[in-house]
Amino acid sequence: MNRILVTGGAGYIGSHVCKALKSAGFEPITFDNLSSGHLWAVRWGPLVQGDLQNGDDLEYVFSVYKPKAVIHLAGLVDLRESILNPDKHYENNVLGSLSLFRTMAKHGVSQLIYSSSAAVYGPSIGAPICEDHPKNPLNPYGRTKWITEQLIGECDLNAVIFRYFNAAGSDPDGQIGEAHTPETHLIPRAISAAQEGLPLVVYNNQHPTRDGTAVRDYVHVSDLAEAHVEALDWLNRNQGPIAMNLGSNIGYSVLEVIAEVEKISGLPVDYIIANQKIDEVPSLIADARKAQRELNWTPKYSDLTTMVKTAWKWHENSVTV
Ligand SMILES: NC(=O)c1ccc[n+]([C@@H]2O[C@H](COP(=O)([O-])OP(=O)(O)OC[C@H]3O[C@@H](n4cnc5c(N)ncnc54)[C@H](O)[C@@H]3O)[C@@H](O)[C@H]2O)c1
Repeated sequence: MNRILVTGGAGYIGSHVCKALKSAGFEPITFDNLSSGHLWAVRWGPLVQGDLQNGDDLEYVFSVYKPKAVIHLAGLVDLRESILNPDKHYENNVLGSLSLFRTMAKHGVSQLIYSSSAAVYGPSIGAPICEDHPKNPLNPYGRTKWITEQLIGECDLNAVIFRYFNAAGSDPDGQIGEAHTPETHLIPRAISAAQEGLPLVVYNNQHPTRDGTAVRDYVHVSDLAEAHVEALDWLNRNQGPIAMNLGSNIGYSVLEVIAEVEKISGLPVDYIIANQKIDEVPSLIADARKAQRELNWTPKYSDLTTMVKTAWKWHENSVTV
């Protein structure tokens, strides 16, 4: 029985995970309410349309498909929206996860891979950031991730908790890519600015970084996806929970990413500086050596040029998606 339940499998990272699972010989079963996911992104296995907070929906997918493990990506991901509507995020991300963990326990499924985030760390004390760095999330989104990590520890699950840094790029074959509404991630926003000739809003240029703009660690979505396949193997050989950063160990500023988008697209990217009064961490760079060691995980596509090139190729060809 090679079935893996993928919550959020119709989303950006989830669909890339499903593709990687299928090519490794697993059958991905997508469970998604399509609140931000897409039907066109479910291509490598069946879709069960359902909501994490609906016990009947979960009961159905576990009894019909009998998955041997769960990859839990489903969640609300817009951290700015989480500041405006924290209750919605706690309900969906924390209560939704609890409802999933209860159903897993009922069906005797204990293997879990959970999509957490670098947002659990908050302001970075030194760089790069290791897994034992203090956890001081700055927004409700980050707090939902940290609370869920702690729940996993209390639910007796054999889990790999992945703290993704910034997922970027698109499937190198061009079959799937990033399509959030609204889009909050820098690379697709910079690509849209280039395509539409409209200025990109840069939130802040007063950070204590090399050019004043925020520095982030970007990791290619197909490299992230591959780590999930390797984590399934880890769970067969080890006992979790264990937390691992997934990043590229390199930080790029907003202006450096914009310059790369201009280079790859051949188009100018105009921008305006908003200097918004919002808590934003100046710099987040992963120390991802633990994942490389534990999983034998080697990112293949996570250099900035490949991430921007694959994202550009997807956006150039997906005008109607
Ligand atoms: N994109 C990133 O850079 C990044 C960074 C760190 C962590 N993460 C985490 O990775 C996961 C996937 O992120 P993404 O960028 O692919 O987001 P996404 O919005 O593209 O995917 C999330 C999916 O979850 C589904 N979903 C949401 N709530 C649900 C519910 N209650 N029941 C069923 N389905 C539900 C959505 O329809 C969507 O398909 C999220 O948990 C996110 O917090 C993402």
